[in-house]
Amino acid sequence: MLDISEIQIIEHDVIVVGAGGAGLSAAIECSSQGLSTGLVCKSLLGKAHTVMAEGGVAAALGNVDNRDHWKVHFRDTMRGGKFLNVWRMAELHAKQAPVRVRELEEWGAVFDRTKKGLINQRNFGGHRYPRLAHVGDRTGLEIIRTLQDHGIHQGIEVYMECTGLDLLQDGDRTSGMVAMWRETGQFVIFKAGAVILATGGGGKGWKVTSNSWEYSGDGHAMAYEAGAELMDMEFTQFHPTGMVWPPSVHGTLVTEGVRGEGGILVNSEGQRFMFDNIPERFASETADTEEEAARWLAGDKDARRPPELLTRDVVARAIRKEVKAGRGSPHGGAFLDIASQRNAEDIKKKLPSMYHQFKVLAELDITTDSMEVGPTLHYMMGGIRVDADTQMSRVPGLFACGECSGGMHGANRLGGNSLSDLLVFGKLAGVGAAQYLQGISTPPKVMDDQAKAVIRNATNILNRESGQNPYLLHEELEENMQSNVGIVRTAELLSAGIAKLESLKKSYKKVKAKGSSQYNPGWHEALALRNLIITAESVARAALLREESRGAHTRLDFPGEQDEWLHYNVVIYKGDDGKMVVGKIEREKPSPELERIANLSIEELEKEVAGEG
Ligand code: FUM
Repeated sequence: MLDISEIQIIEHDVIVVGAGGAGLSAAIECSSQGLSTGLVCKSLLGKAHTVMAEGGVAAALGNVDNRDHWKVHFRDTMRGGKFLNVWRMAELHAKQAPVRVRELEEWGAVFDRTKKGLINQRNFGGHRYPRLAHVGDRTGLEIIRTLQDHGIHQGIEVYMECTGLDLLQDGDRTSGMVAMWRETGQFVIFKAGAVILATGGGGKGWKVTSNSWEYSGDGHAMAYEAGAELMDMEFTQFHPTGMVWPPSVHGTLVTEGVRGEGGILVNSEGQRFMFDNIPERFASETADTEEEAARWLAGDKDARRPPELLTRDVVARAIRKEVKAGRGSPHGGAFLDIASQRNAEDIKKKLPSMYHQFKVLAELDITTDSMEVGPTLHYMMGGIRVDADTQMSRVPGLFACGECSGGMHGANRLGGNSLSDLLVFGKLAGVGAAQYLQGISTPPKVMDDQAKAVIRNATNILNRESGQNPYLLHEELEENMQSNVGIVRTAELLSAGIAKLESLKKSYKKVKAKGSSQYNPGWHEALALRNLIITAESVARAALLREESRGAHTRLDFPGEQDEWLHYNVVIYKGDDGKMVVGKIEREKPSPELERIANLSIEELEKEVAGEG
């Protein structure tokens, strides 16, 4: 008999789950609002996907091109997201990102500088002006370091190597979470009136991904199980440039900063194929000749951007097309060449991590040779549906921010907008949680039976006599998602993918981890697998429902954007019968002012913001 009084209990006002940039920002805010704050991380503090946003944080500081303004950033973000973004989120993000970046600087972040001593900014795909404040190609790492250093003095309690299993509720109100210490296998109940999920994405469901082992959709799945909605799950971002060789590092990110610094994409015939892949709607903003692109590289502010800096969805599909047409690189990608565009000294200065990454992992010198690159699953635009201003989900007391929340990026995220997203919405989630807690008169209770059920589900995996191997199931899941729910989709592929997921769900009921509960990676793998499967199923089902191609979601059987679909978000939740429900909901209308800004031509907008001084 499981005696719940034997289980460790830790109590805080608020628990933040996930200690990347979003979690740290949320925890810092909660703590500064005087809340007792616990920060739970599955891995070590600072080991987070935030560091994978290497090239910079997007904010309209206007340091390199003073025409930049929150309105232009907002317009770029909406266009990048194919107008499916939650309007209010894109507004809050563009307005608040500069404040958050300057705050980071005050907290000690050492950004690269312009000659005038301002924070330097670089070009990135889909951003009209050089907008990415950066620290070489280690921006995410610097942000994490700064937040950690700052957070450590805020009195936040940090619980490392602790995996969240499921949320607890008193009625529909959030009352905490059951978690497990990875080292000892012991359980712990976190009691809290508010929980902020900041667990990142679920990229580990795909075979080729930039994500590391922690990214198993834990927040998505815990929220889903607790009754929250997921939205926009069909939009999974394939970053165009992951390493393709050697196999041991397939999928490892090659920062967009390489293209931002002038890197070009070339096929096996030496052609700069992106010039042939400029979508009509971008044609007037993107260079369509090498001469025009060269003017841009030479610093001519009025030259049009090279097509390598089109949005990620466009570039990823173009690389795939070259490979399919037999013009790929030897290991199935394209060539990314910075060596012919910049001198060795500049490359090492601007892209030190890339220089070392290729030297060490691929024995290649990027100052003289081209890199082989191809698409890698990098980010989920979809996530937990939250209120834009407070970040609270439809479950009272349950908040989400960063990658595990949905809505901000619409159908496609612009590079660098993830770092600004996590700073802006991490803080807002902290404010939202504080406000929510102030409004509570009776604290929610932890129900022993609920906690027991969570613990039993976890220990059943160890206690059954025999069963399915979690590693093999995970491999099957990865194969399935890569082939059937990948960069291009059809109803046939998606239906096959869903059928396979149904069979994986059945197998999962019999998953067995051998050994004891003490540091047992097989058990950890099995626990993560539940979350991976829920997240993967939500992607596949949402992708089947959306019968159009928009942003990162490409349906070969429904080419092109369909106006009708612009009015809907696909939303997923757990039905009363325990099955996944997928449906479309009408989107909130934008304010007339936001709609006006998003639809202005760039010339009109430039004139308007110049007039504002
Ligand atoms: O390419 C990169 O540096 C990634 C940035 C991002 O995902 O925002």
